[in-house]
Amino acid sequence: MSKRIEIAAILQNAPLNETITVMGWVRAFRNNRFIALNDGSTFHTLQVVVDPDQLSEDTLKQIHFHSCVKATGKLVESQGAGQAFEVIATEVEVLGDSSPEEGYPLQPKAQSLEFLRENAHFRMRTNAFSSVFRIRHGIAYAIHKYFNDRGYYYLHTPIITGSDAEGAGEMFHVSTFEPNQAPTLPDGSIDWKQDFFEKATNLTVSGQLQAEIGALALGKVYTFGPTFRAENSNTTRHLAEFWMIEPEVAFYDIYDNMDLAEDFCKYLINYVLEHYPDDVAFLDKRIQDMEKNMPMEQRRPMGLLDTLRFVVDNDFVRITYTEAVDILRNSKHYKKGKFEFPVEWGKDLQAEHERYLVEKEFKKPVIVRNYPKDIKAFYMRQNDDEKTVAAMDVLFPGIGEVIGGSQREERLSHLKKRMQEMHIPEEELWWYLDLRRFGGAPHAGFGLGFERTVQFITGMSNIRDVIAFPRTPGNAEF
Ligand code: 4AD
Ligand code: MG
Repeated sequence: MSKRIEIAAILQNAPLNETITVMGWVRAFRNNRFIALNDGSTFHTLQVVVDPDQLSEDTLKQIHFHSCVKATGKLVESQGAGQAFEVIATEVEVLGDSSPEEGYPLQPKAQSLEFLRENAHFRMRTNAFSSVFRIRHGIAYAIHKYFNDRGYYYLHTPIITGSDAEGAGEMFHVSTFEPNQAPTLPDGSIDWKQDFFEKATNLTVSGQLQAEIGALALGKVYTFGPTFRAENSNTTRHLAEFWMIEPEVAFYDIYDNMDLAEDFCKYLINYVLEHYPDDVAFLDKRIQDMEKNMPMEQRRPMGLLDTLRFVVDNDFVRITYTEAVDILRNSKHYKKGKFEFPVEWGKDLQAEHERYLVEKEFKKPVIVRNYPKDIKAFYMRQNDDEKTVAAMDVLFPGIGEVIGGSQREERLSHLKKRMQEMHIPEEELWWYLDLRRFGGAPHAGFGLGFERTVQFITGMSNIRDVIAFPRTPGNAEF
């Protein structure tokens, strides 16, 4: 079985005139003679030429769209246009039929992304999804490479925790209690002491607080793991289970942090442009084909490839939250009452505001810093104005926020005061406070949303289409 050669290897170094065996899924079968075979190793298909007179009727009948086929034959230069090589098959075996009569749901025509999402067990066989998942892999690899090459250590932070790192209360409980059978205390509340961990636990919303422990010992660390948020957001940018990359660096301030964020984003995009040009080109063309039928104002201002190049070739804009609010309030858009949500100093920027700044005002990624302290998490370093904190969000065209980060509050008294004001129990985070008591240092870090990054780089408009098995409100299939 293992004596097969992958299509990527054939295209790289073709063993011309040798007899080879290829295995893969049928993307197209023309004239009972030409199979376009894809095995996932590359975007490209390999043409397998079969002789219908030599094949058994049974075999021929089973060569359907997405059937799995093994073919052996000589690799030759192709006579036809459209491909350099082809295999003249002498043996063909159908390893797995995918008969539409038996109910195979995918068809060789454009099918909606919604439909393909419901068939997530098959959608990776389509051009678009196979490209997305190859690129997703590439970005994951590039993330590790980026940090490893720069002396960071990969820290595995826990998935089950007893703390709410963001203080936002959007957590999934972890418990071994049977629903409705949890023991209670006299006041009616659940007695978590009797649960598995002898305390209330939840799935992590962020590995940051533990990453800070790492940074204050190893200097530079990063996490790359799944995070969970029980926010009931049914949008194209939110998942209940998503992956986050969180670098945390000792002796970094907010400015170092912004430099790191910009360099890191550009590196990831460059990596994909360099290593996955065919997949990017296909996704670019796919968007252009789709947009042909859309009114001008709904089309993207630039193609995918141009957008990616533009982001790596230009400096990100850096402004403060206060400047952002001024820009928004002075905009025609605001004056004409076109924003749905209010723009007021002290209120959080909504997606529509972020997108206005990035897509209309600057037409570049924007880093907004120094947000009002009351809309940000307890751990962010308080600025001297006593109103803002050293927070930073990186905003991307079409996506909005891809990164949220900050310089951390390293001063014990400031941190304790802030935790009291925000009703964060000190007992839960005694170790976090200890980090400020013993050997503390200024430090900073951020969280990059992995799926939002994949979304940006692949141009997919819905975040559910860049993770293999999306988890969203009302949906945990597969
Ligand atoms: O801005 P957030 O909430 O920041 C943190 O969690 C910090 N602890 C990170 C840090 O400083 N180490 O989330 C970081 C990023 C967001 O910018 C966004 O890209 C992504 O995570 N994100 C989500 N992605 C998909 N679905 C969701 N529900 C997301 N929530 C946040
Ligand atoms: Mg955020």
